[in-house]
Amino acid sequence: DTVALAFSGGLDTTVCVPLLKEEYGYDEVIAVTVDVGQPDAEFTEAEETADALGLDIHVIDAKDEFAALALDAVRANATYQGYPLGTALARPVIAKAILSVAEAEGCTGIAHGCTGKGNDQLRFEAVWRDSDLEVIAPVRELGLTREWEQEYAAERDLPVEAGKGGDYSIDTNLWSRSVEGKELEEPSFVPGEDIYEWAEPPSAATEEIELTFEKGYPVALNGEEYDDVELIETLNELAGSYGVGRTDVMEDRMLGLKVRENYEHPAATTLLNAHQGLEDLVLTKEERSFKTQVDNQWAEKGYQGLIDGPLMKALDAFIATTNERVTGTVTIRFEGGQARVVGRESPYAVYSAEAASFNTEAVTGSIEQADATGVAKYHGFQERLANRRIAAANKE
Ligand code: ARG
Ligand code: SIN
Repeated sequence: DTVALAFSGGLDTTVCVPLLKEEYGYDEVIAVTVDVGQPDAEFTEAEETADALGLDIHVIDAKDEFAALALDAVRANATYQGYPLGTALARPVIAKAILSVAEAEGCTGIAHGCTGKGNDQLRFEAVWRDSDLEVIAPVRELGLTREWEQEYAAERDLPVEAGKGGDYSIDTNLWSRSVEGKELEEPSFVPGEDIYEWAEPPSAATEEIELTFEKGYPVALNGEEYDDVELIETLNELAGSYGVGRTDVMEDRMLGLKVRENYEHPAATTLLNAHQGLEDLVLTKEERSFKTQVDNQWAEKGYQGLIDGPLMKALDAFIATTNERVTGTVTIRFEGGQARVVGRESPYAVYSAEAASFNTEAVTGSIEQADATGVAKYHGFQERLANRRIAAANKE
């Protein structure tokens, strides 16, 4: 029997290889690595480790699919507790790609090296448990610790770089880079500059860029068209050079554990701010208010890795309808580590210079300033009445 393993070449997944054979009785392990925009070095590491273990490795390119999902997240203004969901959104994409390989290769099992304390096990298995394959999670099921894994790897002479286990646990893709572990776990510990790779320390330099959106999706930067992956990569570089997109959050995981997480995501912050800025211009007050609730639900489902359920489809339908009009251009200024909206325009702007101006008498052709007098008389009616009743009752 053959098992497909979600493989990174790191300590957890390397240790899983002999365990899948010895503890779970598989004859063969196929390694699968999915490209969602990790640095090249990670593929080299995965390939070299697989080679040293004598494993067949499949590298699947899912960058376009992942970038498209990230831009759906932009339309949903999606962040969870301040985190733009890079790892979370990548997991279902990765899980689906691995499942396809497992099915094509006639595997009977499918495995990951995620901890039983985390979110990723849930995101992977939400996809995999729709198949008939045996789902295996050796780290969780055998209760492995990093320390045990290191000893085991040393005993077996497994190809793990010495000292590797002492480093931070880092997860990188197109949408975000996350850094956790070691002293960072302590919420009071103040991280040094060394944890950041994408966002430079903010300097006094500034720059303005123009982002053009069509139906809520970003299509051009400074008037030049980009495809999704290129746009995200370009903005990570550019906004990152101004120190944009660092977050240090207390995150409530799905199982309830509260953990400290550090992220960097220059492109995500820039695109999310720009998109929100354009929505603010073209959506009505009622739409903006209701969409906040839709967006929160979208982010919640995104965090859970449940991107294909009926609720998500319904939320996406609302988002698509409102975003029909989210077309236009936003000017963003990179300054002081921020990506601030400093200008926006759209043919759908719910804005009338004449109506809002303090220098014109009429609001529109038939509405005049004096028409507000009646509204002003009513405004606060219930509050005034309620307070009078309270005062009277207190006197008795
Ligand atoms: N806590 C984040 C999430 O659940 C990201 C975790 C990334 N993993 C890591 N080893 N840094 O989406
Ligand atoms: C997760 O599954 O939430 C990630 C935890 C980890 O980094 O091990």
